[in-house]
Amino acid sequence: MLALSLASLALSIVHTAALPGFASPPAELFSPLVAQKVLKTAQASPSPAQYPQYTDRTVGDWEWFSPDTWTSGFFPSTLYAMYERTKLCSSGAGDAAQWLDLARSWATGEIPLEIKTGVGHDVGFLSYPFMDELVVNPENETAIEAVNAFATALAARFNPTVGCTRSWDSADPTDFQVIIDNMMNLEVLFASEKLTGNHTLRDIAISHADKTMANHLRSDGGTFHVVEYNSTTGAVIARHTAQGYADNSTWSRGEAWALYGFANMFKHTRKADYIQTARHIASYFLSNTPDDGVIPWDFNAPLVPPRPADSSAAMIAANGLFLLSDQEFSLLNISGSRYYTNAAIKVISDNTNLAWAPSWQSLLSNGTVNNPAHNNLTGIVYGDYFFIKAGNELVGRGISQC
Ligand SMILES: *[C@@H]1O[C@H](CO)[C@@H](O)[C@H](O)[C@H]1NC(C)=O
Ligand SMILES: *[C@@H]1O[C@H](CO)[C@@H](O)[C@H](O)[C@H]1NC(C)=O
Ligand SMILES: *[C@@H]1O[C@H](CO)[C@@H](O)[C@H](O)[C@H]1NC(C)=O
Ligand SMILES: *[C@@H]1O[C@H](CO)[C@@H](O)[C@H](O)[C@H]1NC(C)=O
Ligand SMILES: *[C@@H]1O[C@H](CO)[C@@H](O)[C@H](O)[C@H]1NC(C)=O
Ligand SMILES: *[C@@H]1O[C@H](CO)[C@@H](O)[C@H](O)[C@H]1NC(C)=O
Ligand SMILES: *[C@@H]1O[C@H](CO)[C@@H](O)[C@H](O)[C@H]1NC(C)=O
Repeated sequence: MLALSLASLALSIVHTAALPGFASPPAELFSPLVAQKVLKTAQASPSPAQYPQYTDRTVGDWEWFSPDTWTSGFFPSTLYAMYERTKLCSSGAGDAAQWLDLARSWATGEIPLEIKTGVGHDVGFLSYPFMDELVVNPENETAIEAVNAFATALAARFNPTVGCTRSWDSADPTDFQVIIDNMMNLEVLFASEKLTGNHTLRDIAISHADKTMANHLRSDGGTFHVVEYNSTTGAVIARHTAQGYADNSTWSRGEAWALYGFANMFKHTRKADYIQTARHIASYFLSNTPDDGVIPWDFNAPLVPPRPADSSAAMIAANGLFLLSDQEFSLLNISGSRYYTNAAIKVISDNTNLAWAPSWQSLLSNGTVNNPAHNNLTGIVYGDYFFIKAGNELVGRGISQC
């Protein structure tokens, strides 16, 4: 009895008082517009199935893509994140059963891709909704099969001579391209290892991360976007960019994927090199953020003409910082943990101030999909997804109320 009431007292303190030592997150994270807009997009449900990826630049309406696109998993996973939010919040997040129904039906549109996708290494992103489903219902056979099929597809892209999974296919099969984004897709290998007990999948993830640490990272903590290996010799033959400003620049979204990816590798393996690398990347990201806090699409892009922001890079990095904060906490580094949580809150605040877009279909504007392809200043589905996840993280930590 006493233990119970102490526990509920502790809980009520967490939920009614701001936690000392943490910055205030922006209220937009829990605006009624979040549930309203996501629901409206979910109910738009085009037929045949299509998925939102980014918006136009002027009014912010979604552009829709076929399921066989690397971004298709983000919207269904957003719906699972809204379902998760109904468990975290006593009100204001919408109807739990409705979110779960919508999440499941949007995930179902991806099922044909378990057999064949054109997305290469991005099967990891496609698997997100199925990994979410397994949190809700660990017995769901459809989701188990999907996670295992996507992991098998990624494992089949592993080349032991190179030590990596191939990101993009190329006309010359000996030209083996690995992009920094690929760090995010390793999660599905760990998820499938857990389901099947197949440790080869973990070994592949570790090998990929070790090679990436050796060859994508610069000494300043910045990253190259693309490293090309020769698949017969394993040698690095080129380092360049596809979506960044220059071959030796640091494209901010790549840096954000790397931050999240290495913090996640530490979570799964407890290898010290990975947390050191995540700290080094975080330090680059935070020290190259300009005074106004707005994350530019590339940290080395010229200031004139003004460089477009990338609010998606900001939201991905914020989630990477939360994950790193958790890892510091697990090492009992409480000040380090607090530091990264506050850094995440600042990144979210500064970029929400810039990019909150009430009249758009997306939650945020000021995303840059691909600046070399002139696709900048849009809403982006994964920017919104990581914005909602960040809100959930803050509630889960007792820092925000809904
Ligand atoms: C299992 O998950 C899939 C989508 O991942 C969904 O379509 C289906 O309704 C779920 N089944 C059950 C029994 O929960
Ligand atoms: C484990 O996974 C690897 C990669 O998909 C596969 O080659 C191997 O056959 C699997 N092992 C077992 C015992 O299923
Ligand atoms: C990789 O190395 C092999 C053997 O030296 C060579 O034939 C091939 O052209 C190289 N491929 C690339 C893309 O450099
Ligand atoms: C990239 O290389 C160019 C040309 O060598 C150099 O001027 C520039 O400072 C380098 N940028 C970075 C970020 O290393
Ligand atoms: C943010 O988006 C608005 C509207 O598209 C644009 O006018 C502004 O220049 C953008 N700011 C940055 C820093 O990208
Ligand atoms: C705690 O975290 C901070 C921030 O990353 C780091 O600089 C410091 O080395 C960590 N301390 C320990 C004891 O690991
Ligand atoms: C942003 O994209 C537009 C075309 O959509 C392009 O004209 C412009 O140069 C881009 N901005 C910068 C600073 O690269």
